[in-house]
Formats: sequence, structure tokens, C-alpha cells
Amino acid sequence: MTANPSTHGVGPSRLPLPLRDGFGRVHNNLRISVTDRCNLRCVYCMPEEVTFLDRAELLSFEEIVRFVRVAASLGIDKIRLTGGEPLLRRDLHRLVGMLAEVPGIRDLGLTTNGILLAEQAQALFDAGLRRINVSLDTLDPVRFRQLARRDGLERVVAGILAAKRAGFDPVKVNAVSIRGVTEHEVVPLARFARAHGLEMRFIEYMPIGADQWERNKVYFAHEILEQIERELAPLVPVEPAAPQAPAQEFVYADGGGRVGIIASVSRPFCHSCNRLRLTSDGKLRNCLFALDELDVKGLLRGGASDDDLAAVIRQSVATKWEGHEINTARFVKPERTMHTIGG
Ligand code: GTP
Ligand code: 5AD
Ligand code: SF4
Repeated sequence: MTANPSTHGVGPSRLPLPLRDGFGRVHNNLRISVTDRCNLRCVYCMPEEVTFLDRAELLSFEEIVRFVRVAASLGIDKIRLTGGEPLLRRDLHRLVGMLAEVPGIRDLGLTTNGILLAEQAQALFDAGLRRINVSLDTLDPVRFRQLARRDGLERVVAGILAAKRAGFDPVKVNAVSIRGVTEHEVVPLARFARAHGLEMRFIEYMPIGADQWERNKVYFAHEILEQIERELAPLVPVEPAAPQAPAQEFVYADGGGRVGIIASVSRPFCHSCNRLRLTSDGKLRNCLFALDELDVKGLLRGGASDDDLAAVIRQSVATKWEGHEINTARFVKPERTMHTIGG
């Protein structure tokens, strides 16, 4: 019998090798986009006019779960469902229930724009989802319409509050931070989050949307922190719940809650990246900014074995680059825009 290179040890208790890339980073986190559709059209994320995938192009729940079973056997234990807008995928709570039962999956989260959350929060919680992140860039309805090219502020706020009531803990609110557009949103959003026991997180604007990104449009982490400290209360850095998470975490010195900063541009976190991404059309990406991807759907629909699926996951991890090169002249923007990757 030949030795299986992806396992070590002897006998029936052989453990799979961790998904370690060429830079030593162990991957345990899979972000799964369940649809490319969205009910908003945020300017920093997607174009106004889009052709969405045919339903037949999307991985079925059964295909996603099969892939996750194989990934979990290799050490993936953390899943986040994304979109487009994941709550547009019909019966999403059913997928959540199926994933919650996969052995080895210990952390199941969702990132949503919140528009449909008030209706679905309880069903998602009951199905086993525990962590929810909601995107909200402003509390001003006019600005919301400018940024999202649609109305919906009240529904998003209702969704956030419904998620709290349903028992989600934490509920994190994500705001993209764009100079000249959202500076004035920082303080109202931070106050809103403090008042409702939410973790407010600010994300530096990244070159991954359909619009023209420029470095001088990034409203930087240090500027956001200065504003919050000036207007609300001093912040104290704390250890993040997960060391590989993108956000740097802070608590208010007066005990008034938690703030996160995702400084993708001014303080890249690629050195500790643990993330793989599966797109809704079944492509495996080893970086948000990856220029190449591997085809999983073809394998799933072509009679591939679990070993074949495991091999493609290992290949994706093994070929991962050091990180995005946003801060260099070498940066190349991927063809996919954010709504087809899921953040
Ligand atoms: P937690 O498990 O709660 O820490 O979730 P998360 O922060 O990893 O997930 P979320 O979907 O809320 O991510 C928020 C934003 O962070 C995304 O929309 C992206 O803008 C950014 N982000 C998440 N993962 C990555 C990553 O791997 N690379 C980069 N550059 N940005 C990321
Ligand atoms: N830069 C930073 N974050 C972005 N998102 C979408 N586009 C961008 C961008 N260009 C974030 C959204 C949401 C998540 C799905 O992706 O705000 O939180
Ligand atoms: Fe990981 Fe790529 Fe994000 Fe860097 S940009 S943290 S390598 S997914």
C-alpha cells in the first residue's frame, strides 16, 4: 500500500494534515457565497446594471454540504455564508440546519445587508446560526439611498434589532469607510451601536467594487479611531476573539461596548489569513483578491470522489500567494466584483 501524502500517523487514527499554505498559514475558515443576487446596489460593491447567474449555475444546498463535509475533514471548522445577499437564497435556514449538522463545524456565521433579516432572523437562529454581521454604512436615509442606490434603511435597522431579539450574540454592524462620503456617519453609527449592544465595525474601502477606487478615498482606520475617541470615549485595544480575524478590536474605556476596525489597506492582515472562499457558481478562491480560481462545481457534477474534492482544496491552499498587493504598483484588481465573492 502506498502512503497517503495528505495524512500522517499510523492505523485507523490517522489525522489529516492541516490545510497549511506555503507561508505556514493554517486554513480553517470557509466563506461560502450562496447567491450573486442582491436587493441593493451599493456603489462600492457592484455596478447598477448586472446580469445575475441562472439558478442552475448555483451550487445546490446538497452540493454545498457535500463540499463542506470534505472541507471539514481537512480541518475547516468555521463557515460564513455570504452573497450577494444571502437572505435572497430561498429557504436559507434549511442550508443552515444542514451545515450545523456537519461534524467538525463549530462556528456558523452569516453576513447580510439586513433588508430581509427581520423576517428571517428567528428561523435562522432556530436552525443553528449563532453569529450575524449586518452591513450598514449610514443612519441617514438620503445617504443610504445614495450609497445603496435603493431605499431600505428602516428595514435594515429593524433587521438588526430583530437579530438581537432572536438571540444572536454578537451582532456586528459593518460600515465601509469612504473619504468624502461616510466620515460623518462614524459617530452616529458608533452611538447607535453603543445604545443597542452591537459591535460597530468600520472597514477601509478596498479596490474590489465596480467603481473607480483611489487610495485617497480610503478613510483610514486611525482617522476613524480619532473621531470616535474625540466624540464618544477613549478606546482600549483588546485581543480579538479569533487571532486570525480581520478586525482589530477595541472596547470603550467607560465600558460602553466594542468597536472593530478592518484596516485592509493601511494595516493588511494577510500574514494571518485563514480564509478560503467558495463562490455561488462553485469556484474555489484562496484570496479575496485572487486572480485564479479552481472549479469545484465541475467536480461535484462530474462524479468526482471526495478525495478529488480534498485534492482541489489542498491545491488551492498550496498555491496561495502571500497576500493582496493593494499598497504596491503590482496590484491587479480581480475581474469579479465583491457581490460575486461575498466579502
Ligand atoms: P467574524 O468571524 O465575525 O470576524 O467575521 P468577518 O469579519 O471575518 O466577516 P465579515 O463578513 O463581517 O467581514 C467584514 C468585511 O471584512 C468583509 O466584507 C470584507 O470587506 C473584509 N474582509 C473579510 N475577510 C477578508 C479577507 O480575507 N481579506 C480582506 N482583505 N478583507 C476581508
Ligand atoms: N471595500 C470594503 N468593503 C466592501 N464591501 C463590499 N465592497 C467593499 C469594498 N469595496 C463589504 C460590505 C459588506 C461586505 C459583504 O462587503 O460592506 O460588509
Ligand atoms: Fe487573506 Fe487575501 Fe484577504 Fe489577504 S486579501 S487577508 S490573503 S483573503
